[in-house]
Amino acid sequence: MPAEAFRPNAATRQRSQLDNKISMKCVDDFRLTFGNREYVPIIIGGMGVDISTADLSLVAARLGGIGHISDAMVPTISDRRYDTKYVRDKLKFYKYNVANTDKSEVQFDLALLAEATETHVRRTMERKQGDGLIFINCMEKLTMNGPKDTLRVRLRSALDAGIDGITLAAGLHLGSFALIEDHPRFRDAKLGIIVSSLRALQLFIKKSARTNRLPDYVVVEGPLAGGHLGFGMDWAQYDLATIVAEIRDWLQAQEMDIPLIAAGGVFTGTDAVNFMENGAAAVQVATRFTVAEECGLPPEVQQHYFKASEDQIEVNTISPTGYPMRMLTTSPAIGAGIRPNCEAYGYLLDANGNCAYINAYNRELEAHPDAKRLKVMDKTCLCTHMRNFDCWTCGHYTYRLKDTSHKLDNGDYQLLTAEHVFKDYQFSKDGKVALPERAETA
Ligand SMILES: Cc1cc2nc3c(=O)[nH]c(=O)nc-3n(C[C@H](O)[C@H](O)[C@H](O)COP(=O)(O)O)c2cc1C
Repeated sequence: MPAEAFRPNAATRQRSQLDNKISMKCVDDFRLTFGNREYVPIIIGGMGVDISTADLSLVAARLGGIGHISDAMVPTISDRRYDTKYVRDKLKFYKYNVANTDKSEVQFDLALLAEATETHVRRTMERKQGDGLIFINCMEKLTMNGPKDTLRVRLRSALDAGIDGITLAAGLHLGSFALIEDHPRFRDAKLGIIVSSLRALQLFIKKSARTNRLPDYVVVEGPLAGGHLGFGMDWAQYDLATIVAEIRDWLQAQEMDIPLIAAGGVFTGTDAVNFMENGAAAVQVATRFTVAEECGLPPEVQQHYFKASEDQIEVNTISPTGYPMRMLTTSPAIGAGIRPNCEAYGYLLDANGNCAYINAYNRELEAHPDAKRLKVMDKTCLCTHMRNFDCWTCGHYTYRLKDTSHKLDNGDYQLLTAEHVFKDYQFSKDGKVALPERAETA
């Protein structure tokens, strides 16, 4: 188990679970309003490196909700989806540097980054049907050896290519609005932020006040979410309902009418209704969609999500971003001592070309110069492992996924369609989860 891994015990688990009051209502009794438009109040959250695919986001939009694509490692996604060669060309260009521990020279070509982002967004938006929206999740913690310039390019090219909205996530850069305030779509695109505390929201609003623009929505992400957490390793002491209530009360006192979106551990339609009856305008959900056919995870990895037991889900500190991250203990990324791939990827390099994994790797290499296979336990090469779907990040309730489908004769579980999961959130009542129609077996 990696350093500082933490699994909640029964007591902390109980404390952090929702008070599942039985409601007669379903999510479809509510609507999320932006201006004069109404949406089904279900948002599929961004899941980095093409886990929340264009296909997944398009289902949400078609059904009247909101889907996210992700802007994490877009050149890599473009290569896979649209047959470009960004990664190969970048590696070729910087090949001379592969054995060098100093990665400061490895820069992103901003024109190519813009091109890749525009391709990804435009090709997704071209396929959009229905009354819903498609947003892009912008992982601001991807510092890309040039934090401000690369972030500016990513945000502006997404707007250029017609994205409906941008959700600013992980590592919230307080000056993000200023990077796009002169963009023609600054006031028409929906702009939202993800926070895990009232303080983070207050800081962002204060810092953006100069642009005379408030966020159009605020996603309040609690400690049970997947991906990186906006909490320390004491995450189990926090609870989403409490944070949502605190932010709701503050917004009311300020007379700020900003829709609040509750995220993290909303597993059933009834969980969602409980939040909406307590001030949330919508919910953002992700874990239930990791086992949908449209999700980017390879089917064999999806089976690991289905079969995970509760004690195989941990929050650890192996992400070089410095944020705790939740993942399956069976992830191949844990302990893998591969050579850093910054010349090909390099998304986590800070402004000086440093990444915590490079240091951890070099330390192990120095300690075991003759080892055939290095083990690096405290950090992981997140770019490579997310790219290869070897870092199985997941939400806390991943162990309940097995209850949402049928077990097949061979012990595997039947994949779901995103439409089935979306509609289950939308129409289910009484804490129930609807099982899919059983697939014909060969
Ligand atoms: C596999 C996975 C990957 C995720 N990746 C990201 C990400 O790249 N950026 C982000 O802001 N949130 C990410 N999240 C968080 C989700 O967008 C969402 O807010 C959260 O997981 C909702 O909680 P739930 O998974 O319990 O439904 C991820 C979640 C999962 C399950």
